[in-house]
Amino acid sequence: MTTASSAVQTPTPFKPRIFSGIQPSGGLTLGNYLGALKRFVEKQDEGIETIYCMVDLHAITVWQDPEKLRYQTREGAAAFIAAGLDPARSILFNQSQVSAHAELAWIFNCVTRLGWMNRMTQFKDKTAGKNAEAASLGLYAYPSLMAADIMVYHATMVPVGEDQKQHLELTRDIAIKFNNDYGVDFFPVVEPLIEGAATRVMSLRDGTKKMSKSDPSDQSRINLTDSADNIAAKIRKAKTDPEPLPETVEGLKDRPEARNLVNIYAALAGHTVDQVIRDYAGAQFGTFKPALADLAVAKLSPITAEMNRLMADPGEIDRILGQGADRADAIAQPILERTKDIVGMIRSRKG
Ligand code: AMP
Ligand code: TRP
Repeated sequence: MTTASSAVQTPTPFKPRIFSGIQPSGGLTLGNYLGALKRFVEKQDEGIETIYCMVDLHAITVWQDPEKLRYQTREGAAAFIAAGLDPARSILFNQSQVSAHAELAWIFNCVTRLGWMNRMTQFKDKTAGKNAEAASLGLYAYPSLMAADIMVYHATMVPVGEDQKQHLELTRDIAIKFNNDYGVDFFPVVEPLIEGAATRVMSLRDGTKKMSKSDPSDQSRINLTDSADNIAAKIRKAKTDPEPLPETVEGLKDRPEARNLVNIYAALAGHTVDQVIRDYAGAQFGTFKPALADLAVAKLSPITAEMNRLMADPGEIDRILGQGADRADAIAQPILERTKDIVGMIRSRKG
């Protein structure tokens, strides 16, 4: 049965369009840079339309201090620009400025099944060891809002780190169920882009844990705001095993800390892991760590300096986010309006 209004065009095949988001819920780490920012910027340079968002609606799924939220949203935008994002070529904005995200999320909340949400491991991780009954409803619905972020632009590709894979599978499920429920081919089935050596940057203290801004130990991570001395000291003190680097990539198996440092080197240098192993086969960490520290400082210091320069002028950042929001809104509104048509909502025919 097809219930879609005849006004609805079937927009297949979908135009290639990239969307991704970062939460402004704390400082950014080397994991965010290598797993997200750096790759996002590379996509812009591949000539595909790119839309990047500071997801403040997601951030408030756990309580945020209002002044910090504002600061961190600007800092995230500054990090994007410092990492090479060009606001003229990519769209950069904060989610709450484009109300279509929240509106489509509500419609998706009515498509998404509780059973699907109950399988989301990030919700389980974020409430592990805590009283899950006291978690916000927003934290539970988080993945449905994420699906709306992507679908409200008909985005076809989403670069993310490994940790977001399950949320993208859910996005596909929501899109497919919506299309089936309403007998349309309206939402694209999105492709996750999880590629490169650093889709999962691990803690410097424990090679089996993700590098994260929420780790209690500052030594476990490199922050994009760390000084050169601090970066070098953290790499020097990073946990390793006593063996030299292996002769082959297979030799990194079962050596999570060594593998992590080699992956970080490869991602920062823009080399393959193979290449790094070839260059450092048999090297002791006494040799490899200083080389990695020099490389990290060389790559990150200019970004930190540019972030600091941009943060000195918050008005300019707000202007860029506002212009980005206007451009994002122009794409999202017609897609939201067509969604409302499909669902059977009477809407204004203004625009
Ligand atoms: P978050 O800071 O958790 O909102 O993550 C923002 C983006 O950074 C997402 O695309 C994540 O997948 C990515 N990301 C966060 N931490 C890491 C990490 N340790 N390694 C690789 N990517 C990461
Ligand atoms: N959940 C993502 C994270 O923790 C952030 C995010 C929100 C996102 N909406 C998105 C990522 C849409 C990609 C696409 O990193």
